[in-house]
Amino acid sequence: MKVVIASDHAGYELKEKIIAHFNNDFEWVNNGPFSSESVDYPDFAHPLANSIANGEYEFGILICGTGNGIGMTANKHANVRAALCWIPEIASLSRQHNNANILVMPARFISDNVAFEVVKAFFSTDFEGGRHQRRVEKINIQ
Ligand code: RB5
Repeated sequence: MKVVIASDHAGYELKEKIIAHFNNDFEWVNNGPFSSESVDYPDFAHPLANSIANGEYEFGILICGTGNGIGMTANKHANVRAALCWIPEIASLSRQHNNANILVMPARFISDNVAFEVVKAFFSTDFEGGRHQRRVEKINIQ
């Protein structure tokens, strides 16, 4: 599966560790940044969210310090459902109930090992549909 991933400077190290850890599990599209030099998270969130919204990729991962800035930016795009996840249970529920298509993680508040478990949970869980489908369809405002 192709997965597009991006971060800001705060998420750079965790992004690289995730790509290395899951090297054989996903075909990664690394949208940067490519160093821990300070950057602005919207400059990385918008292009990735756009590539999910236009169907170029089905799933993405975004990482910043808290996960909030990069997730808030992604969720401005119609049909993007970016879920801030810091434990595997929330990652699974974001797929089961919200059909999340972007996994967002808070690099400064999650250990590497928990982040790896969060990635595993997110990508091994399917959307349940049913009553959740109706709710997800009500998210977009246009
Ligand atoms: C960068 O210092 C930090 O503000 C950013 O990574 C993120 O936490 C913003 O929401």
